[in-house]
Amino acid sequence: MKIVIEGKEIDAKEGISVLDAALEAGIYIPHLCKHPDLEAVGGCRLCSVEVEGIENAVPACKTTVEENMVVKINSEKADKTRKMAMELILATHPADCTGCHKYGKCELQSIYQYMGVGPDKWRKKSRTVQNDESNPLIQHLFTRCIRCGRCIRACRELRGVKVLDYQRTKNGIEVGIDGGKSLEEAGCKFCGACIEVCPTGSIMDAVGIMKEEVSYSDSVVPCRAACPAHTDVPRYLRYIKEGDFAKATAVIREKVPFPETLGSICNHVCEDNCKRNEFGNPISICKLKKAAAESHDDSWKARAYKSKPTDKKVAVIGAGPAGLTAAYFLAKKGHSITVFEENEKAGGQCRYGIPAYRLPDEVIDKETADILEVGVELVTNTRIDDPKELLDKGFDAVLVSVGTHEGSKLPLEGNDLQGVYINSDFLKKVRQGAPVELKERVMVLGGGNVAYDCARTALRLGAKEVHIACLEDINMMTATKDEIEEGKEEGIILHDAHSFLKIVGNEKVEGVELQKVSKFYFDENRKSIIELVEDSNEVIPVDNVIFAVGQRPKGTEKMELELTHGPYIKVNEALETNIKGIFAAGDVVTGTKSVISAIAEGRKSAESIDKYLGGDGDITEKLIDEEKTNSYIGRCAGFSKLERTKTELIDADERKCSFESVEKTLSKERASCEAGRCLQCDLRLNLKQPKLWNEY
Ligand code: FES
Repeated sequence: MKIVIEGKEIDAKEGISVLDAALEAGIYIPHLCKHPDLEAVGGCRLCSVEVEGIENAVPACKTTVEENMVVKINSEKADKTRKMAMELILATHPADCTGCHKYGKCELQSIYQYMGVGPDKWRKKSRTVQNDESNPLIQHLFTRCIRCGRCIRACRELRGVKVLDYQRTKNGIEVGIDGGKSLEEAGCKFCGACIEVCPTGSIMDAVGIMKEEVSYSDSVVPCRAACPAHTDVPRYLRYIKEGDFAKATAVIREKVPFPETLGSICNHVCEDNCKRNEFGNPISICKLKKAAAESHDDSWKARAYKSKPTDKKVAVIGAGPAGLTAAYFLAKKGHSITVFEENEKAGGQCRYGIPAYRLPDEVIDKETADILEVGVELVTNTRIDDPKELLDKGFDAVLVSVGTHEGSKLPLEGNDLQGVYINSDFLKKVRQGAPVELKERVMVLGGGNVAYDCARTALRLGAKEVHIACLEDINMMTATKDEIEEGKEEGIILHDAHSFLKIVGNEKVEGVELQKVSKFYFDENRKSIIELVEDSNEVIPVDNVIFAVGQRPKGTEKMELELTHGPYIKVNEALETNIKGIFAAGDVVTGTKSVISAIAEGRKSAESIDKYLGGDGDITEKLIDEEKTNSYIGRCAGFSKLERTKTELIDADERKCSFESVEKTLSKERASCEAGRCLQCDLRLNLKQPKLWNEY
């Protein structure tokens, strides 16, 4: 229907409000208590307009359009009502906006700028009201509250949580919780909808939650942002909660072709960034991923895209997580891909650097097979030293993703005695089933997960007494808490904060001399500073020593590529090396990182190589349709305190005698319960952002 607003004729949909009709036509009418996702209540009166034929000004948000209606926004009557409404609001609002985080984004500020008034002029009374900073994740600054009720309605109508309401207090009417309870006590779900709809800076994220250096959505959903491949964590957790493992797997596979591998061994930085850490109980994201992936539901394949074949050929050197990920996405873009692997099987560090009790062969085999199925050719037992040769042989691009497979020894006295091993050789031999001679007592030098891999493997090979020594204090070790805990249960003796002075022995290892460390840190030049405790030396008698003190790339010096920091390949932003057509990705560029970081690098290199070959570089994929999420999440008593679901482990005595998987996968019921603890931080991003006056 036709209506006229401020002299301009517009088309309006039948049944909508005058406010919505105006905003849809790009005409601004001030409004505050109306939010695009909330029903109009007509409370603030800032949207007052004059309608021809009606005596008094009416709220545009509560007035339905009628054919040939004539509406004036800036009439005398409308202005007067609006000014009175604004005067009431500003009577208790702080005059100085400069310290508010919403400055420049505040809807109230936008309206009084539109009206040409300043808060200093309008403010009548001052309020000294205490802020509520007692809740994790959410804080409430009452002085900025204008009692528009949007937070209450969002909590009630949009989320069904219903913990917020108007409360009568000694300071008058305030938004709060029944009985003066905390949000935690009231069963708040901490979804953040109240923060999102607050038009001023009254309800906001607690200090430190929002990060200035990242985008708004990354701050709001830190688990997804922290994952190097940006897997959509809240989305797949919702499916796991619903028991739909097939859809959860599809969501994960949109970003990574190794869901089960990651569910087994990912270093899960997502969990470190989970907002539930504020309650001390982050979601067990990694183990939920494993539960979903182990369902082995392949229905995602039905939606997987495969572009028409191009006539381009790409060689990938190294079948680790970076190389195989790149190969997978490049093959899907229609290119012809050959992966050259030095070893007899694909998997790289996942197969040869991680023990089978953490990541069984069958998992790597299955996920590699899925990659080969899209048309990737795998050539094993083939070492490529010169990537340029492959260009000469007709490949249009080459990706070097050979990882960091060479472990190193520290320059310690005794490091060449019989019985000394290097982590990479040791773990690889065991994985290949090659004989490894170990005696009864073993010392592993290093404080990362690889040290634990070596130590726990030594136990499984029959060593009776296994030690780990590292410079770092236990709280600074890079090994995950789980590894340290599980290793302890299996009987590994940890000497944290110890320096290794020498390996003692005559031809054969007889012991390691350690000395206590009082301080260990890196100075501003990244030089390690170690301060030792005098007279704290002791020799631990052992028969074998395994160095687990880092790994580096092998053979890159022969590749004629520009290197950096020793053997690492130098690349630009697009992962191109100094030779046109040759790219590099993964640990060989970044240094030893995590499997998920290597996968992210593989994705990035696939995008770059596809562009280099004339494609659009777009490897995004939707393996299931975006579904409308149920955002009516309801209240849950004790929600913030719900305990993290523990993964059951095989008994320590049993597991240290075998290379079988050490942990039992979460059942569907337990996985659903655990996923149900998710705060669903992403839901608030689905709420519409009202536009400010200057955006019209
Ligand atoms: Fe219409 Fe508040 S926006 S009365």
